[in-house]
This record gives sequence, C-alpha cells and structure tokens, in this order.
Amino acid sequence: MYSTDLAYIHDAGFGDFAARAAPEVIRILRRHGIRPRAERFRGTTGSGRARRVVEVGCGSGTLARHLVDAGYDVVGLDISPAMIRLAREKVPEATFRVASLTKARMPRCDAVVAIGEVVTYVPASGGGTGVPPALRKFFSRVHEALEPGGLFIFDFIERGVWRTYPAKIHSGGDWVIAAHAELDAAGQILTRRMVAIRKVGRQYRRTQESHRVRIYKRRAVANALAGAGFTARMSRSYGRYRLLPGDVAVIATRR
Ligand SMILES: C[S@@+](CC[C@H](N)C(=O)[O-])C[C@H]1O[C@@H](n2cnc3c(N)ncnc32)[C@H](O)[C@@H]1O
Repeated sequence: MYSTDLAYIHDAGFGDFAARAAPEVIRILRRHGIRPRAERFRGTTGSGRARRVVEVGCGSGTLARHLVDAGYDVVGLDISPAMIRLAREKVPEATFRVASLTKARMPRCDAVVAIGEVVTYVPASGGGTGVPPALRKFFSRVHEALEPGGLFIFDFIERGVWRTYPAKIHSGGDWVIAAHAELDAAGQILTRRMVAIRKVGRQYRRTQESHRVRIYKRRAVANALAGAGFTARMSRSYGRYRLLPGDVAVIATRR
C-alpha cells in the first residue's frame, strides 16, 4: 500500500486535501484551547511544554508541515515506509514512525489527528456492518493517549455510492495514474484499483495497487466513540473546508 511511486504521486498530485484542511485543523485545535507554544507563552518568560499532536496516517507530511510551522510538536505514524520517507524529508523537525493504527503505541499527546479517510483502511475482519474491533481498539488507545480534554479529529466515508467512479485518469509532470472505484454488493467495502506510471530518469516504472476501504455508518462510529469515552460532533467539513461528498468529519473530545 502506497509503495514508492504511489506515495510520490499522492504527494505530488493529491496533497491538496491535506494542504487545504490544515489551516482549518489548526483553527479547530486553537478553538479547543490546544494552542501552539508561541501563543501560550507570548509575552512571558516561561518556556512551557509544546502541545503535542500525533498524526496517524500522516502520509507524506503535508499536514505535519503546517502543524510544525504553527508551533506544535508532531509525531507522525503511517503504515507506508515510502510515505514516511517523504514525510521525514518534508518535516525534519517532526518525529515519524512506520506503524499501523491497529497496533501502534500511541505517545501521550494533546490531540490525535487522522485526516484523509485513514480510519477506513482498517481490515474488514469482524464487526459486521458496524465498526470493526480493530477500530474500536484504536479509539480506546487514542483515548488513553490523550490528556484530559484532548481532541481526536478524523474523517470517514459514510456513503460509498458517492465515492465510486468509472475509469479516471490524472497526470502530473512525470506521472500518470488511471483508477476506478467500485462498491461491493453490501455497500460496505469500496475498492480502488490503480495503475500508475512514473518517469524516473529515462525509465518509465509501472505500479499497480488495490486499496480496500470500509464504509461506516455514522451512528456506529458515534456509538463506538461514546463507548471509548469521547463526546463527538460530526459534520461535512473541517471548518470552512468542505469534505468530498459522502465523507464525515469528526471532532471528538476526551471525556
Ligand atoms: C488517503 S492517504 C491520506 C494521507 C494524509 N493523511 C493526507 O491527508 O494527505 C491515507 C494514508 O493512510 C495510511 N494508512 C492506511 N492504513 C493505515 C494503517 N492501518 N495505519 C497507519 N496508516 C495507514 C496510508 O499509508 C496513507 O498514507
């Protein structure tokens, strides 16, 4: 998943989502009292602890770059080693680890952020039409890691049918990708099949990947969050930045 060339293409051609969501995510953190160090101690001599944000599914580090620039400490986790390599180049000030959200040890923090449908990549075993056990456990580990009043910000897909498409082609300066997305009969799993070609030096490299992501019911996610100890609010946007059709943004506070 997100091997070298697909990670490169995601960063080069699809980084816009994280770049546009970032200022809104930072506004949400501030509004909930999670302010970067410079603002908390402006005009004082105190050094104070910087607020730490753990970004799960951090991809190539686009949001992490904005968070660090705003004055947060960032720990980024992603299952893709290629994504983590790009993130380390982009944000040398942050700490990055290759890890899956289903198993990762979560460091103590003030906020956990997982934008870009990261929680939909959880394996489909168990959970029926609800939230799979692996995701419930993740919610509990996020709760344990957060300081009291800490924030958990993420998004998921609730309407898979709005996210299907026949073959689509995107291209950039040195790459082209063809993709299509289809839903299973039960409407629970969206499969995106992608074939990419990237020019590296004088060679053209071909990569093929299939990503299976899960569709969740809003109520099931709300119940799982409540069970894990969160109070959650859901909407269709991060602040003024509207998500793709069928996506839901969650701002959950640790009780
Ligand atoms: C659609 S990309 C979004 C990347 C980034 N958050 C953004 O908005 O640009 C989904 C990311 O989730 C990561 N991912 C998928 N499954 C994961 C898992 N189980 N644990 C951690 N990261 C995962 C992928 O490697 C990928 O970087």
